[in-house]
Amino acid sequence: MTQSLIHLSTASVSLLIRAGKRLPEVVYWGKKLPENQDYDRFFSANHRSVPQARIDTDTALSLCPEHARGLFTAPGLEGSRSGNCWSPEFTLEDVLEQPGSVSFSCRDPDAGLKLIINLTLNQTSHILETQLQVTNEAASPYQLQKLTNTLPLPADARELMYFHGRWTHEFQTDRILLDRGGYAIENRRGRTSHEHFPGIMIGQPGFSETSGEVYGFHLGWSGNHRLHTEAMSDGRRYIQAGELLMPGEIILEAGESYSTPTLFSCYSEKGLNVISKQFHRHVRNQIIQFPQAKKVRPVHLNTWEGIYFDHDPDYILKMVRASAEIGIERFIIDDGWFSGRNDDTTALGDWYIDSRKYPRGLQPVIDCVKEQGMEFGLWFEPEMISPKSALYRNHPQWMLHTEGYEQVKVRNQYVLNLQIPEAFDYVLGRMDEMLSTYDISYIKWDMNRELVQATHNHKAAFHGQVNAYYRLVDAIRDKHPMVEIETCSGGGGRVDYEILKRTHRFWASDCNDALERQLIQRGASYFFPLEITGAHIGARLCHTTGRQHNLAFRGITALFGHMGVELDPACASEEEKAAFANYIALHKSLRELLHTGEYFRCDTVHKETQGCGVIRQDKSEAIVMYCQLGMSEFALAAPLKIPELDDHKTYRVELLESSSSDIYIKQPSPWVEEATEMGGALLKQVGLMMHTLQPESALLIKMTAV
Ligand code: GLA
Repeated sequence: MTQSLIHLSTASVSLLIRAGKRLPEVVYWGKKLPENQDYDRFFSANHRSVPQARIDTDTALSLCPEHARGLFTAPGLEGSRSGNCWSPEFTLEDVLEQPGSVSFSCRDPDAGLKLIINLTLNQTSHILETQLQVTNEAASPYQLQKLTNTLPLPADARELMYFHGRWTHEFQTDRILLDRGGYAIENRRGRTSHEHFPGIMIGQPGFSETSGEVYGFHLGWSGNHRLHTEAMSDGRRYIQAGELLMPGEIILEAGESYSTPTLFSCYSEKGLNVISKQFHRHVRNQIIQFPQAKKVRPVHLNTWEGIYFDHDPDYILKMVRASAEIGIERFIIDDGWFSGRNDDTTALGDWYIDSRKYPRGLQPVIDCVKEQGMEFGLWFEPEMISPKSALYRNHPQWMLHTEGYEQVKVRNQYVLNLQIPEAFDYVLGRMDEMLSTYDISYIKWDMNRELVQATHNHKAAFHGQVNAYYRLVDAIRDKHPMVEIETCSGGGGRVDYEILKRTHRFWASDCNDALERQLIQRGASYFFPLEITGAHIGARLCHTTGRQHNLAFRGITALFGHMGVELDPACASEEEKAAFANYIALHKSLRELLHTGEYFRCDTVHKETQGCGVIRQDKSEAIVMYCQLGMSEFALAAPLKIPELDDHKTYRVELLESSSSDIYIKQPSPWVEEATEMGGALLKQVGLMMHTLQPESALLIKMTAV
């Protein structure tokens, strides 16, 4: 096969892949190239030199780097047949090109391995999806250690923005410069995790929301993963993203295959806002499938922080009525409804209604919810088993563990081994019966612990457990296609594009502190659009941080997501209820814009402030939130430059809400007191004059084209 160049492109991005006898190599990925060029001539006269005192031939950084070719990167594929065939060398046999996608079929007959590399560049979202598959074509088993997606990065992509966190503190961001060696994020927690969200941004140093070339990556997988980026000693750079496999976890018998999770990647010429716009568009068009596409996202009331395990149906009826009064549209009973569940030490697995708490079952509550015009949702944690449960007493072997070792508990619970067909069928049967008996249109699907020593059939079984979990969600959706599912894992511990293909919302965090939420929701916004990001107004005294915030700050913050309320409305004062109702009504009035428009973040000069907004695609309307996170260093706030506005439009700028007192202002900028018309280009380039707010407060500003 002669060398040829394959060009995948969209209106803004080009990807050029060189394919010859060897594994294909990306020779360009970035801003759209002009169409009318002779790429073949250009690249054949203009390829890398072979440096002195190294391998005598050119070493391509291919889509699956091979040690056998003398490339000293981390290989794309690692494994062996009991030590043999550990360093394969593939030959490209076939290229299948289709509009927007290409598939390379490669083989090493000596190693008995076939490798397929798939790339698809989405025309609308500009997201590049990559995935690799290896097949064992020989008779002996092949022990796979690693198969990962590899993409090259330009030499100036030197700055990394990565995500980290913990329970109640998800989606935090940080940055480092990488000029030598590698940077790796390894997640061994068996779920997507709070700690190591599988996403990263890599770009020109100093890239911001609105400037700098930057590449965005997200691995769609809800288990162990490894993201690795390296600045090679020869000056080249690359990223690898794939599943992290435990020793012996994947053994391919003759004819068996393993596929990597999909890596979702994109390029922006101008900063992170373009990256998230592309990710959001992809989620909206390709990932999320709502049972009813046109339905608005109903405002939630979730009982957890309101009553915890203390379930009294008579009192819950009061909560239902109070919820309806403030405008709630979906009422969800959280943890505590099933047999013997009075605290977090018992009963996971016993998915029967607790007849002591609910002597007449759930029906009276559901009837009342329906009478009040709301939908009903219920919490499950299907993958778990409490040591104190009937399920555990009857089936101790259903716990996911390693024989002979003591399994650690997390939140007093074990994991149910869904790879045991009887365990899988049991939990599917229990959920199916609940969903068939009652009019339940929403599941809050929780998962409150990590996998430790996950072994099944004497082999490491993280991969198997994650796939069994996907099968369980799929089976529930097959039986109950109209039910919406929230993915929750102690808050935002399990959200990624693979689980979002099966679910419809994620619970961003168990932290309802509005200040923390500002940062958590901003971090999540790089990958996820607002309509799937669960954001609730919590109690005045936040249960997880002990901080207090006024209702306006809590309300404004929760507007920017799929809104809900996480408290007991039945014991709220009339004044509080009126305030909840006010923010719920405001959310409903802005919901269509928030949930279908384009999200953006503002670059702010002072580190203790942040701004974000949503603009309609035709740029006729935008809603902007400006937040003072901490005490301002300065008496004067900097103007807020609002990207994304139309240069040629004039906007009526109106302050809708403020959660701050005026203590720091003697005289505000005139627009604050009276709605004013201003040019889009000026708002973008000069900015809207802010004033210093009290720490932990926010402004809500509406801009309407006139
Ligand atoms: C997890 C969830 C919470 C709540 C509790 C119930 O922590 O994140 O929202 O559902 O479990 O036990």
